[in-house]
Amino acid sequence: MDLVIAPSLLAADFNRLSEQVRAVEQGGAPWLHLDVMDGDFVPNISFGPPVIASLRATTRMVFDTHLMISHPQRYVEAFRKAGADVITVHWEACTHLHRTLTLIREVGAKAGVALNPATSVDLIRPVLHEIDLLLIMSVNPGFGGQRFIPATIQKLQQARDLVRGSGATIRVEVDGGVDAGNVSACVAAGADTIVAGTSIFGMADPAEAVRHLICASHSTTTV
Ligand code: DX5
Ligand code: ZN
Repeated sequence: MDLVIAPSLLAADFNRLSEQVRAVEQGGAPWLHLDVMDGDFVPNISFGPPVIASLRATTRMVFDTHLMISHPQRYVEAFRKAGADVITVHWEACTHLHRTLTLIREVGAKAGVALNPATSVDLIRPVLHEIDLLLIMSVNPGFGGQRFIPATIQKLQQARDLVRGSGATIRVEVDGGVDAGNVSACVAAGADTIVAGTSIFGMADPAEAVRHLICASHSTTTV
């Protein structure tokens, strides 16, 4: 699986979003990670479909939409209409996960499931054939700029083994506190899709930060 860097818009300067998106695209990031927070599932509020729809007109990047919201099934169609290509819901937010994943594919998006740090990878086994992406949270969701939780590395290995064993084509994504110092350990453990907010948009030159992260992902540094 090719390595994908997905800069998280949450850490961008909201006063010049399209300019920042253009910068990371030019830096070599094919995906844009969109963190949607509702103040209920997580203790923070970010943005919703109108912001995504507005950005959709400015770029062809893959929109990787991470729904940190309660009742995500109610909003799947709205996010798809806004331009989401991948729609990821939290295992912890879905009572009827299979139904929600089916809905995501029915509206023409790729389906993802995110697992909080305290949620076991094994719980995803029954829906492995309904997903295109498995997101392993490396921080507790809700805020950018948090510290990477080292136990994530083992969860990434478990995720990779589970995915390989299933024979399905599923991306393994890591999200939270990823930077040039720990990205290679994530990749070595099985992550092929790397979300990074602060370590990209927190830098003076986000395009250069993407290139730096791509380089660092091949290095031998460990967490
Ligand atoms: C956390 C979000 C992450 C976060 C990543 O709730 O899901 O995508 O914005 O940002 P950094 O890289 O700053 O941890
Ligand atoms: Zn995220």
